[in-house]
Amino acid sequence: MGITIKHAGKAVPKLVVKNEDLNKFVDTDNEWIVARTGITERRIATSESGLDLAVDAAKIALEGENYEEIGLVIVATVTPDKLVPSMGAMVKRELNLPNAIAFDINTACSGFIYAIWIAEALMKNGMVNKVNGVHTNTINKALIIGVERLSRIVNWTDRGTCILFGDGAGAAVLENNPKEKGILASFVKNYDDTTDSLTCGMEFLKTPFTDEDLDNPEQQTLSMQGSQVFKFAVNAIGEVMERSLELAGLTADDIAYYVPHQANLRIISSAAKKFKQPIEKFQISLNETGNVSAASVPMALYDIMNTAKIKKGDKIMLVGFGGGLSAGAVIFEV
Ligand SMILES: CC(C)(COP(=O)(O)OP(=O)(O)OC[C@H]1O[C@@H](n2cnc3c(N)ncnc32)[C@H](O)[C@@H]1OP(=O)(O)O)[C@@H](O)C(=O)NCCC(=O)NCCS
Repeated sequence: MGITIKHAGKAVPKLVVKNEDLNKFVDTDNEWIVARTGITERRIATSESGLDLAVDAAKIALEGENYEEIGLVIVATVTPDKLVPSMGAMVKRELNLPNAIAFDINTACSGFIYAIWIAEALMKNGMVNKVNGVHTNTINKALIIGVERLSRIVNWTDRGTCILFGDGAGAAVLENNPKEKGILASFVKNYDDTTDSLTCGMEFLKTPFTDEDLDNPEQQTLSMQGSQVFKFAVNAIGEVMERSLELAGLTADDIAYYVPHQANLRIISSAAKKFKQPIEKFQISLNETGNVSAASVPMALYDIMNTAKIKKGDKIMLVGFGGGLSAGAVIFEV
Protein backbone atom coordinates (compact mmCIF):
# COMPACT_ATOMS: atom_id res chain seq x y z
CA MET A 1 0.00 0.00 0.00
CA GLY A 2 1.37 3.40 -0.92
CA ILE A 3 0.36 6.99 -0.43
CA THR A 4 1.23 8.53 -3.77
CA ILE A 5 1.77 12.17 -4.66
CA LYS A 6 -0.19 12.23 -7.91
CA HIS A 7 -0.44 15.72 -9.36
CA ALA A 8 0.71 19.18 -8.38
CA GLY A 9 -0.61 22.65 -9.13
CA LYS A 10 0.68 26.20 -8.82
CA ALA A 11 -0.74 29.72 -8.96
CA VAL A 12 1.06 33.05 -8.74
CA PRO A 13 -0.16 36.66 -8.65
CA LYS A 14 0.13 38.71 -11.83
CA LEU A 15 2.47 41.43 -10.54
CA VAL A 16 6.16 40.69 -11.12
CA VAL A 17 8.45 42.71 -8.82
CA LYS A 18 12.07 42.67 -9.96
CA ASN A 19 15.05 43.31 -7.69
CA GLU A 20 15.51 46.71 -9.33
CA ASP A 21 11.95 47.70 -8.33
CA LEU A 22 12.87 47.31 -4.64
CA ASN A 23 15.26 50.27 -4.82
CA LYS A 24 12.20 52.48 -4.51
CA PHE A 25 11.65 51.28 -0.93
CA VAL A 26 15.07 50.26 0.44
CA ASP A 27 18.77 50.82 -0.17
CA THR A 28 19.65 47.67 -2.11
CA ASP A 29 20.80 46.55 -5.54
CA ASN A 30 20.22 43.69 -7.93
CA GLU A 31 23.81 42.40 -7.75
CA TRP A 32 23.74 42.08 -3.93
CA ILE A 33 20.40 40.24 -3.93
CA VAL A 34 21.40 37.84 -6.72
CA ALA A 35 24.82 37.13 -5.18
CA ARG A 36 23.54 36.61 -1.60
CA THR A 37 20.25 34.80 -2.39
CA GLY A 38 19.87 33.80 -6.07
CA ILE A 39 16.57 35.71 -6.29
CA THR A 40 15.93 37.98 -9.31
CA GLU A 41 12.18 38.59 -9.00
CA ARG A 42 9.10 37.61 -7.02
CA ARG A 43 5.31 37.80 -7.46
CA ILE A 44 3.30 40.11 -5.21
CA ALA A 45 -0.47 39.82 -4.77
CA THR A 46 -2.46 42.96 -5.46
CA SER A 47 -6.00 41.95 -6.41
CA GLU A 48 -5.56 38.22 -5.63
CA SER A 49 -6.59 36.87 -2.22
CA GLY A 50 -4.88 33.90 -0.66
CA LEU A 51 -8.06 31.94 -1.33
CA ASP A 52 -7.93 32.85 -5.05
CA LEU A 53 -4.36 31.57 -5.29
CA ALA A 54 -5.06 28.42 -3.25
CA VAL A 55 -8.14 27.55 -5.32
CA ASP A 56 -6.35 28.16 -8.64
CA ALA A 57 -3.42 25.94 -7.62
CA ALA A 58 -5.82 23.27 -6.31
CA LYS A 59 -7.86 23.21 -9.53
CA ILE A 60 -4.71 22.37 -11.51
CA ALA A 61 -3.70 19.63 -9.05
CA LEU A 62 -7.27 18.23 -9.09
CA GLU A 63 -7.56 18.01 -12.88
CA GLY A 64 -9.30 14.72 -13.79
CA GLU A 65 -10.22 13.96 -10.15
CA ASN A 66 -13.70 13.26 -8.84
CA TYR A 67 -14.12 16.01 -6.23
CA GLU A 68 -16.40 13.75 -4.14
CA GLU A 69 -13.43 11.45 -3.48
CA ILE A 70 -11.36 14.11 -1.69
CA GLY A 71 -11.57 13.19 2.00
CA LEU A 72 -9.08 15.67 3.43
CA VAL A 73 -7.91 19.24 2.77
CA ILE A 74 -4.92 20.59 4.68
CA VAL A 75 -3.75 24.13 4.02
CA ALA A 76 -0.30 25.11 5.29
CA THR A 77 0.05 28.85 5.72
CA VAL A 78 1.35 31.62 7.99
CA THR A 79 -0.74 34.24 6.18
CA PRO A 80 -4.37 33.04 6.11
CA ASP A 81 -6.92 35.51 4.70
CA LYS A 82 -8.80 35.29 8.00
CA LEU A 83 -8.40 33.62 11.38
CA VAL A 84 -11.89 32.16 11.05
CA PRO A 85 -12.90 30.35 8.94
CA SER A 86 -9.71 28.47 8.16
CA MET A 87 -8.30 28.57 4.65
CA GLY A 88 -9.02 24.82 4.49
CA ALA A 89 -12.71 25.41 5.23
CA MET A 90 -12.88 28.17 2.62
CA VAL A 91 -11.14 26.05 -0.03
CA LYS A 92 -13.54 23.16 0.69
CA ARG A 93 -16.55 25.47 0.26
CA GLU A 94 -15.19 27.26 -2.81
CA LEU A 95 -14.28 24.03 -4.64
CA ASN A 96 -17.36 22.17 -3.41
CA LEU A 97 -15.60 19.16 -1.87
CA PRO A 98 -18.56 17.59 -0.03
CA ASN A 99 -16.71 14.80 1.76
CA ALA A 100 -13.56 16.57 2.89
CA ILE A 101 -12.39 17.25 6.45
CA ALA A 102 -10.59 20.60 6.14
CA PHE A 103 -8.20 22.54 8.38
CA ASP A 104 -5.04 24.67 8.44
CA ILE A 105 -1.61 24.12 9.93
CA ASN A 106 1.23 26.54 10.63
CA THR A 107 4.79 25.30 10.75
CA ALA A 108 6.08 28.25 8.67
CA CYS A 109 8.18 27.30 5.65
CA SER A 110 8.09 23.57 6.58
CA GLY A 111 4.29 23.62 6.45
CA PHE A 112 3.80 21.61 3.27
CA ILE A 113 6.10 18.83 4.54
CA TYR A 114 4.28 18.64 7.88
CA ALA A 115 0.92 18.59 6.04
CA ILE A 116 2.03 15.60 3.97
CA TRP A 117 3.31 13.90 7.14
CA ILE A 118 -0.13 14.36 8.76
CA ALA A 119 -2.05 13.29 5.65
CA GLU A 120 0.10 10.19 5.20
CA ALA A 121 -0.53 9.11 8.79
CA LEU A 122 -4.30 9.62 8.51
CA MET A 123 -4.52 7.87 5.15
CA LYS A 124 -2.29 4.93 6.15
CA ASN A 125 -4.18 4.26 9.36
CA GLY A 126 -7.48 4.11 7.51
CA MET A 127 -8.74 6.97 9.68
CA VAL A 128 -12.52 7.23 9.52
CA ASN A 129 -15.16 9.49 10.99
CA LYS A 130 -18.10 7.68 12.54
CA VAL A 131 -21.49 9.27 13.09
CA ASN A 132 -23.92 7.00 14.96
CA GLY A 133 -21.77 4.01 14.04
CA VAL A 134 -21.81 4.85 10.33
CA HIS A 135 -18.58 5.69 8.52
CA THR A 136 -18.82 9.12 6.99
CA ASN A 137 -15.25 9.53 5.75
CA THR A 138 -12.46 7.29 4.62
CA ILE A 139 -9.52 9.27 3.40
CA ASN A 140 -8.34 7.78 0.14
CA LYS A 141 -7.51 11.09 -1.49
CA ALA A 142 -6.23 14.31 0.05
CA LEU A 143 -5.64 17.81 -1.23
CA ILE A 144 -2.59 19.49 0.34
CA ILE A 145 -2.03 23.20 -0.26
CA GLY A 146 0.65 25.71 0.68
CA VAL A 147 -0.40 29.33 0.19
CA GLU A 148 1.07 32.64 1.28
CA ARG A 149 0.68 36.38 0.93
CA LEU A 150 3.91 37.21 2.73
CA SER A 151 3.92 40.70 1.21
CA ARG A 152 1.32 41.60 3.86
CA ILE A 153 3.58 40.73 6.82
CA VAL A 154 6.93 41.86 5.43
CA ASN A 155 8.46 45.11 6.72
CA TRP A 156 8.96 47.02 3.45
CA THR A 157 11.53 49.30 5.08
CA ASP A 158 13.82 46.43 6.19
CA ARG A 159 16.20 45.50 3.36
CA GLY A 160 17.39 42.44 5.26
CA THR A 161 13.99 40.74 4.86
CA CYS A 162 11.75 42.42 2.28
CA ILE A 163 13.97 41.37 -0.63
CA LEU A 164 13.57 37.69 0.22
CA PHE A 165 9.85 36.96 0.12
CA GLY A 166 6.99 36.62 -2.37
CA ASP A 167 3.39 35.44 -2.73
CA GLY A 168 1.87 32.36 -4.34
CA ALA A 169 0.29 28.94 -3.87
CA GLY A 170 1.10 25.33 -4.63
CA ALA A 171 -0.99 22.19 -4.24
CA ALA A 172 -0.76 18.42 -4.54
CA VAL A 173 -3.20 15.53 -4.58
CA LEU A 174 -2.30 12.45 -2.51
CA GLU A 175 -3.90 9.06 -3.18
CA ASN A 176 -3.93 5.79 -1.29
CA ASN A 177 -2.99 3.36 -4.07
CA PRO A 178 -2.10 -0.25 -3.20
CA LYS A 179 -0.38 -0.71 -6.58
CA GLU A 180 2.20 2.04 -6.01
CA LYS A 181 5.03 2.51 -3.52
CA GLY A 182 4.36 6.25 -3.13
CA ILE A 183 5.83 7.83 0.02
CA LEU A 184 8.92 5.88 1.14
CA ALA A 185 9.81 8.00 4.16
CA SER A 186 8.69 11.15 5.91
CA PHE A 187 10.49 12.78 8.78
CA VAL A 188 9.83 16.03 10.68
CA LYS A 189 11.66 17.71 13.54
CA ASN A 190 11.19 20.81 15.71
CA TYR A 191 14.11 22.81 17.08
CA ASP A 192 13.55 25.45 19.79
CA ASP A 193 14.04 29.02 18.55
CA THR A 194 15.65 30.10 21.83
CA THR A 195 16.80 33.49 20.47
CA ASP A 196 13.59 34.34 18.54
CA SER A 197 15.58 34.38 15.32
CA LEU A 198 12.48 34.28 13.09
CA THR A 199 9.27 35.81 14.40
CA CYS A 200 6.15 37.65 13.31
CA GLY A 201 3.60 39.04 15.72
CA MET A 202 0.03 39.92 14.90
CA GLU A 203 -2.39 42.75 15.49
CA PHE A 204 -4.36 42.57 18.73
CA LEU A 205 -6.86 44.94 20.22
CA LYS A 206 -6.30 46.50 23.61
CA THR A 207 -8.56 45.18 26.29
CA PRO A 208 -9.90 47.47 29.03
CA PHE A 209 -7.97 45.33 31.54
CA THR A 210 -4.36 46.15 30.58
CA ASP A 211 -2.23 49.13 29.62
CA GLU A 212 0.14 46.89 27.64
CA ASP A 213 1.58 48.75 24.60
CA LEU A 214 0.26 47.02 21.50
CA ASP A 215 0.84 49.79 19.02
CA ASN A 216 4.32 48.93 17.80
CA PRO A 217 3.87 48.05 14.11
CA GLU A 218 7.35 46.43 14.07
CA GLN A 219 5.94 43.65 16.25
CA GLN A 220 3.41 42.86 13.54
CA THR A 221 5.92 42.30 10.73
CA LEU A 222 8.34 39.54 9.96
CA SER A 223 11.63 39.90 11.79
CA MET A 224 14.69 37.73 11.21
CA GLN A 225 18.28 37.38 12.32
CA GLY A 226 19.48 36.42 8.85
CA SER A 227 22.87 34.87 9.51
CA GLN A 228 21.54 32.88 12.49
CA VAL A 229 18.63 31.52 10.43
CA PHE A 230 21.08 30.76 7.62
CA LYS A 231 23.20 28.58 9.95
CA PHE A 232 20.11 26.83 11.31
CA ALA A 233 18.86 26.15 7.77
CA VAL A 234 22.14 24.63 6.59
CA ASN A 235 22.28 22.30 9.61
CA ALA A 236 18.58 21.39 9.61
CA ILE A 237 18.36 20.64 5.88
CA GLY A 238 21.33 18.29 6.29
CA GLU A 239 19.81 16.53 9.28
CA VAL A 240 16.34 15.91 7.83
CA MET A 241 17.77 14.80 4.49
CA GLU A 242 20.01 12.29 6.27
CA ARG A 243 17.27 10.98 8.55
CA SER A 244 14.73 10.53 5.74
CA LEU A 245 17.31 8.69 3.61
CA GLU A 246 18.01 6.38 6.60
CA LEU A 247 14.28 5.75 7.08
CA ALA A 248 13.85 4.88 3.40
CA GLY A 249 17.02 2.74 3.32
CA LEU A 250 18.41 4.86 0.49
CA THR A 251 21.52 6.88 -0.26
CA ALA A 252 21.61 10.40 -1.68
CA ASP A 253 22.62 8.95 -5.07
CA ASP A 254 19.32 6.99 -5.21
CA ILE A 255 17.32 10.24 -5.29
CA ALA A 256 16.64 11.41 -8.86
CA TYR A 257 15.58 14.94 -7.88
CA TYR A 258 15.48 17.11 -4.80
CA VAL A 259 12.77 19.73 -4.25
CA PRO A 260 14.03 21.93 -1.41
CA HIS A 261 12.42 24.92 0.27
CA GLN A 262 13.26 27.92 -1.90
CA ALA A 263 14.82 30.31 0.64
CA ASN A 264 18.32 30.90 -0.64
CA LEU A 265 20.43 29.36 -3.42
CA ARG A 266 23.43 29.26 -1.08
CA ILE A 267 21.51 27.05 1.39
CA ILE A 268 20.51 24.67 -1.43
CA SER A 269 24.08 24.61 -2.79
CA SER A 270 25.42 23.74 0.66
CA ALA A 271 23.09 20.72 0.81
CA ALA A 272 24.17 19.61 -2.67
CA LYS A 273 27.81 19.87 -1.61
CA LYS A 274 27.28 18.07 1.70
CA PHE A 275 25.58 15.11 -0.01
CA LYS A 276 28.00 15.20 -2.99
CA GLN A 277 25.10 15.68 -5.41
CA PRO A 278 25.17 17.75 -8.62
CA ILE A 279 23.23 20.99 -8.21
CA GLU A 280 21.28 20.04 -11.38
CA LYS A 281 19.40 17.43 -9.28
CA PHE A 282 17.94 20.26 -7.16
CA GLN A 283 14.87 22.13 -8.40
CA ILE A 284 15.60 25.86 -8.32
CA SER A 285 12.52 28.06 -8.67
CA LEU A 286 13.46 30.82 -6.21
CA ASN A 287 15.01 33.05 -8.87
CA GLU A 288 11.47 33.79 -10.11
CA THR A 289 9.51 33.43 -6.86
CA GLY A 290 11.64 34.36 -3.86
CA ASN A 291 10.81 32.58 -0.62
CA VAL A 292 7.07 31.82 -0.52
CA SER A 293 7.20 30.02 2.85
CA ALA A 294 4.74 27.08 2.96
CA ALA A 295 4.00 27.50 -0.77
CA SER A 296 7.64 27.22 -1.88
CA VAL A 297 7.94 23.42 -1.88
CA PRO A 298 4.64 22.66 -3.70
CA MET A 299 5.29 25.44 -6.25
CA ALA A 300 8.74 23.98 -6.95
CA LEU A 301 7.20 20.48 -7.03
CA TYR A 302 4.80 21.64 -9.73
CA ASP A 303 7.72 23.09 -11.69
CA ILE A 304 9.69 19.83 -11.60
CA MET A 305 6.67 17.57 -12.24
CA ASN A 306 5.89 19.58 -15.34
CA THR A 307 9.27 19.15 -16.94
CA ALA A 308 10.01 16.15 -19.12
CA LYS A 309 12.84 15.14 -16.76
CA ILE A 310 10.86 12.96 -14.35
CA LYS A 311 10.09 9.35 -15.25
CA LYS A 312 8.10 6.55 -13.60
CA GLY A 313 10.01 5.00 -10.71
CA ASP A 314 12.11 8.10 -9.99
CA LYS A 315 12.58 8.87 -6.32
CA ILE A 316 12.05 12.51 -5.30
CA MET A 317 12.87 14.18 -2.00
CA LEU A 318 10.93 17.22 -0.73
CA VAL A 319 12.77 19.18 1.97
CA GLY A 320 11.55 22.06 4.12
CA PHE A 321 12.91 24.18 6.97
CA GLY A 322 11.67 27.33 8.62
CA GLY A 323 10.30 29.25 11.57
CA GLY A 324 9.42 27.52 14.78
CA LEU A 325 12.06 26.32 14.20
CA SER A 326 10.95 23.38 12.10
CA ALA A 327 12.23 21.11 9.35
CA GLY A 328 11.25 17.95 7.50
CA ALA A 329 11.70 15.80 4.43
CA VAL A 330 9.52 13.43 2.40
CA ILE A 331 10.84 10.87 -0.08
CA PHE A 332 8.39 9.43 -2.61
CA GLU A 333 8.51 7.30 -5.72
CA VAL A 334 6.82 8.67 -8.84
C1 LIG B 1 19.27 37.43 4.66
C2 LIG B 1 20.58 36.99 4.04
C3 LIG B 1 20.43 36.88 2.54
C4 LIG B 1 21.63 38.03 4.37
O1 LIG B 1 22.86 37.62 3.85
P1 LIG B 1 24.19 37.72 4.75
O2 LIG B 1 25.29 37.26 3.92
O3 LIG B 1 23.89 36.96 6.02
O4 LIG B 1 24.27 39.25 4.97
P2 LIG B 1 24.31 40.05 6.35
O5 LIG B 1 22.96 40.06 6.96
O6 LIG B 1 25.46 39.56 7.18
O7 LIG B 1 24.66 41.48 5.80
C5 LIG B 1 25.89 41.74 5.14
C6 LIG B 1 25.87 43.19 4.72
O8 LIG B 1 24.92 43.36 3.66
C7 LIG B 1 24.00 44.39 4.01
N1 LIG B 1 22.68 44.09 3.47
C8 LIG B 1 21.69 43.39 4.06
N2 LIG B 1 20.62 43.34 3.22
C9 LIG B 1 20.98 44.00 2.10
C10 LIG B 1 20.31 44.28 0.90
N3 LIG B 1 19.06 43.87 0.65
N4 LIG B 1 20.96 44.98 -0.05
C11 LIG B 1 22.22 45.42 0.14
N5 LIG B 1 22.90 45.17 1.28
C12 LIG B 1 22.29 44.48 2.25
C13 LIG B 1 24.01 44.41 5.54
O9 LIG B 1 23.57 45.66 6.03
C14 LIG B 1 25.44 44.13 5.84
O10 LIG B 1 26.17 45.33 5.67
P3 LIG B 1 27.37 45.71 6.68
O11 LIG B 1 28.38 44.63 6.50
O12 LIG B 1 27.80 47.05 6.20
O13 LIG B 1 26.75 45.72 8.03
C15 LIG B 1 21.04 35.63 4.64
O14 LIG B 1 21.41 35.80 5.97
C16 LIG B 1 19.99 34.59 4.55
O15 LIG B 1 19.59 34.17 3.49
N6 LIG B 1 19.56 34.05 5.71
C17 LIG B 1 18.59 33.00 5.75
C18 LIG B 1 17.26 33.58 5.43
C19 LIG B 1 16.23 32.52 5.29
O16 LIG B 1 16.45 31.52 4.68
N7 LIG B 1 15.09 32.80 5.88
C20 LIG B 1 13.95 32.01 5.77
C21 LIG B 1 14.09 30.73 6.45
S1 LIG B 1 12.73 29.78 6.05
